[in-house]
Amino acid sequence: MSIDLTEETITDAVQQTFEGCTNERVREVFVTLVQHLHDFAREVRLTSEEWFTAVDFLERVGRISTPTRQEFVLLSDILGLSVLVDQINHGNGSATDSTLLGPFYVEGRPRAENGADISGGVAGMPLFFSGTVVDQDGRPVVGADVDTWHSDSEGFYDVQQADKLHGEPAMRALLDTDDDGRFWYRSIVPRYYPVPTDGPCGEILRAAGRSPMRPEHIHFWLHAEGYEPLVTMLFRGDDPYLERDAVFGAKRSLVADFVQHEAGETAPHGTVMSEPFQTVEWTFTLAPARG
Ligand code: BEZ
Ligand code: FE
Repeated sequence: MSIDLTEETITDAVQQTFEGCTNERVREVFVTLVQHLHDFAREVRLTSEEWFTAVDFLERVGRISTPTRQEFVLLSDILGLSVLVDQINHGNGSATDSTLLGPFYVEGRPRAENGADISGGVAGMPLFFSGTVVDQDGRPVVGADVDTWHSDSEGFYDVQQADKLHGEPAMRALLDTDDDGRFWYRSIVPRYYPVPTDGPCGEILRAAGRSPMRPEHIHFWLHAEGYEPLVTMLFRGDDPYLERDAVFGAKRSLVADFVQHEAGETAPHGTVMSEPFQTVEWTFTLAPARG
């Protein structure tokens, strides 16, 4: 019956409309979603004005979103939903911990050879990254695709400075692992940065008096046949924001050693450097595909 519904009967009436779903999972998700949405509105005694404000907010999140400005992803991130979903789905055992993807991954990134400078000419302290990809028995994973991306030394990604960089990708690349499961590249040292606050999500952060800062990190997304994809990041241990990441994605298990070297020392690719630089090494362990 869906006539003369009351605060008490409307939830059941809406849920019943999903009973005919042939897809059991779709039914389960919607019935439960309706339950929680309705309970939420009842619990906080949601006013009509608040509901209109929320709809307007979501409309604005949609309007500002583009393939390179993913405000819906950011909304999920600042509410901790992205990390929660990741935790639910990736209890990886002995594999490298995963964390959230974030809004700055973009399709169409350039493929790079191992050893390449992927900074795109952006100025900053040189950073030499060396990674090894292994399975849970420590055997190298050969031919894995490794996406990496990070900010510049002022905390900006290439897509946030497209005008300055003439739309060219920088500080991101797709590499693959060699016969020893290794990949390596040169770039620049990134920095902590605020998540974008000039859109609707910024209003939430300001209303809550929350910091928008993310600790310094380098992103990775690894794919290899026969293994679960791994979305992860590496963090710097002494970062001031490590323990108060605005999007809840930092993990102690993903803290890497960013080793400082002075001018005159030899970089991993054999050049004697005329300026200070940093090196980071990391071994990524992939879990077998779930089939
Ligand atoms: C990032 O690490 O790129 C990121 C993650 C969540 C929100 C904003 C940025
Ligand atoms: Fe990031």
